[in-house]
Order: sequence, then C-alpha cells, then structure tokens
Amino acid sequence: MPDDKDSILNDETERPLTPEEQARERAKQMTRVVCICKGIPLGKVLDGLPGCETVADVNQKVGSGSGGCKGERCGPRIKILLKKYKEHKTGG
Ligand code: FES
Repeated sequence: MPDDKDSILNDETERPLTPEEQARERAKQMTRVVCICKGIPLGKVLDGLPGCETVADVNQKVGSGSGGCKGERCGPRIKILLKKYKEHKTGG
C-alpha cells in the first residue's frame, strides 16, 4: 500500500524525493480521501498523526470517524496509517 506511507523517501530507491516528487506526492495525499463520510483527505490524516496514540486521538484531532458509518470504514485505514507512522518514527 505505497500511497499510504508518510515517508519522504522514494519507495523503490529509498532516496529522498525531489521537491517535484514531494509536491506530486502531497497533491495525491490531498486528493485521496480516507474518511469518506467527512471528506477527510489522506494528507490531513497524515498531518494529524504526530502526538496521537490511538485512532480515537486521530479522529478527535482531524475530524474523521464521526460520519454516518461512525468510523467503520475509515477506522481500519487510520489504524494502519498510525501503525506505519509509529514504526517509521521508531525505525521499526
Ligand atoms: S468513513 Fe470516516 S466516519 Fe465514515
């Protein structure tokens, strides 16, 4: 699931992304919606991950999880993003 990573490294080469690649990646993140009910894009969720320990923390911070499905659709995605973020942060 390469689109969900928050790294600034290129997936295949692990080299830092060029500014143009970073801009393209950011644009993708802002058009891809994680919380369909509330229209919360991936970029906003990724921005909200720092300081969060649980999906509920992320939901409270960015406004996801409070739509019609009550987080049934976006919760699992946010859980994966949070797990990847924590692994990336700790180098795991
Ligand atoms: S998709 Fe996020 S609350 Fe429904």
